[in-house]
Amino acid sequence: MLVGLLVAVAITLSEASIQKVSINGSTICGDRYISGVTVQLWEEDTFDPDDLLEEGITAKTNGTFSVSGVTEETTLIEPYALFIHNCDVKNAEKCVRSTRFPIDRKYINGPVYEMSLVQLKTRQGEDKETCREKK
Ligand SMILES: *[C@@H]1O[C@H](CO)[C@@H](O)[C@H](O)[C@H]1NC(C)=O
Ligand SMILES: *[C@@H]1O[C@H](CO)[C@@H](O)[C@H](O)[C@H]1NC(C)=O
Repeated sequence: MLVGLLVAVAITLSEASIQKVSINGSTICGDRYISGVTVQLWEEDTFDPDDLLEEGITAKTNGTFSVSGVTEETTLIEPYALFIHNCDVKNAEKCVRSTRFPIDRKYINGPVYEMSLVQLKTRQGEDKETCREKK
């Protein structure tokens, strides 16, 4: 029984595989580029908190980003991109939005997911706005 368990664990460990996802593009807010946006690559876990794989910041002049994340898992990961920004918030000094985009599994160990122009003004899918309280 115990031996069987150990064998099962050993097999599971040996089957963990490297999974890599890369995304790039430019963030825009309405009709202008938006820089200083935090771009995070996450992996969704059903039973545990999600794992942050990597993060980057969009470039000053043109909102360009290029982020790659790697993880080692036994099952196929469910990656997504999270953009943390203040495009179209109630109060740019106090509020941030996090906008989530799914990443298709074909990009795992596949081509770069070229997101091109990422419009952050549009509230699409999961989008959260949080504001700090006034002191
Ligand atoms: C994104 O990556 C692809 C493939 O490496 C590259 O051809 C393209 O120029 C990159 N785009 C940006 C905006 O970095
Ligand atoms: C965007 O800006 C970055 C750094 O400011 C630069 O390296 C990159 O070449 C620019 N990309 C385009 C498409 O202008």
